[in-house]
Amino acid sequence: DRVTVSVIKADVGSVGGHARPHPLMMQKCVERLKDGVRAGTVDDFYVTRVGDDINLYLTHTRGENNKDVHGLCWDAFMDATKVAKEMKLYAAGQDLLTDAFSGNIRGAGPGAAEMEFKERGAEPIVFFMADKTEPSSYSFPLCKVFMDPFTTTGLVIDPRAHEGFKFEIVDVIDSKKVIMSTPEETYDILTLLGDTTRYAIKRIWSKSDDIGIGAVVSTEKLNISAGKYVGKDDPVCICRAQSGLPAVGEHLQPYMFPALVAGWMRGSHYGAWYPCSVADSDPVFFDGPPRICAVGMHVSNGKFQGLEDPNSPVGVHEPLDYFAGSCWDEARRSAVKASMYMRRHGPFMPAVLGPEEMEYTTRPAVLSKLKERMEKLE
Ligand code: F6R
Ligand code: MG
Ligand code: MG
Repeated sequence: DRVTVSVIKADVGSVGGHARPHPLMMQKCVERLKDGVRAGTVDDFYVTRVGDDINLYLTHTRGENNKDVHGLCWDAFMDATKVAKEMKLYAAGQDLLTDAFSGNIRGAGPGAAEMEFKERGAEPIVFFMADKTEPSSYSFPLCKVFMDPFTTTGLVIDPRAHEGFKFEIVDVIDSKKVIMSTPEETYDILTLLGDTTRYAIKRIWSKSDDIGIGAVVSTEKLNISAGKYVGKDDPVCICRAQSGLPAVGEHLQPYMFPALVAGWMRGSHYGAWYPCSVADSDPVFFDGPPRICAVGMHVSNGKFQGLEDPNSPVGVHEPLDYFAGSCWDEARRSAVKASMYMRRHGPFMPAVLGPEEMEYTTRPAVLSKLKERMEKLE
């Protein structure tokens, strides 16, 4: 009676520059995943997107990193790539970095967030999807949600949330991880996570023994898996909610502040994180600003349940689109304002990232051109 929820995502090409996958690409994914259900590889699926990234949501009972589940998604992305190439769409096949799939999409280009848990009486889940930014962008909102009592009143007044959480923190540069505990290690945790160039949250578990996993982020660093920068990850984050975990509204609240995150144009700028509906997730201002979508569904008896009829055909779902409503207009306006402010710095820091984080650079070429003219200071 354990269920696995996987979100596997990739940018395999889009219309209008790095903007939106073609509907036929999404359709190809739907067809593949339908086959996957027929073959018994997965139990249910939902195909959506954020900006130029296709997101495959799956439920199954095969656990994390399953070869067949990952293989199914790989094949879906291959099919979508084929369609994108035929139409000569932009960056077709971008995130499929290897020709020979070796059983796991990790390190092969796509991103994955997967969690296995025992289904509770009701299992509300918030799926966050970001475009034009990196995994560590989730650290700030997740810290607020799971650590900050001024954000999550549940930490104070819900007895199980009050017990605290365990954080798995990864060092994306040295490929290390450590598990730390809140509230007692809060300050130590922030010492690491404040450095978003190096540390990111991978998982969060409840410390109450009847709950398990609370959140998981896709942390594959494309730049490292490809051996060079090929794009920020455009990460996803799955959060279970309610009954001892942060409530849905507690999970969403931090996004009312449009934090500056790394990514945006050429993966090389800081921009304000713009909360939006899936329909509004096309990057339209300077290839952004970085987008964040949040959609909600339940996992019910191993399948997704949204607003659709429970008897609708497999793969047909209608999640709540949390950031669609006018309540978030205020945050959107601030995000655009803050992003315009950043743009006024042109190619100067802190509008652009530090040199190690830039996705594009001409500096080595310029320096080598200047080699003869460069003099030692007195
Ligand atoms: C950022 C992104 C875009 C591109 C930009 C230039 O993640 O995908 O901002 O970096 O449009 O793209 P190229 O180098 O393909 O011309
Ligand atoms: Mg892209
Ligand atoms: Mg993208």
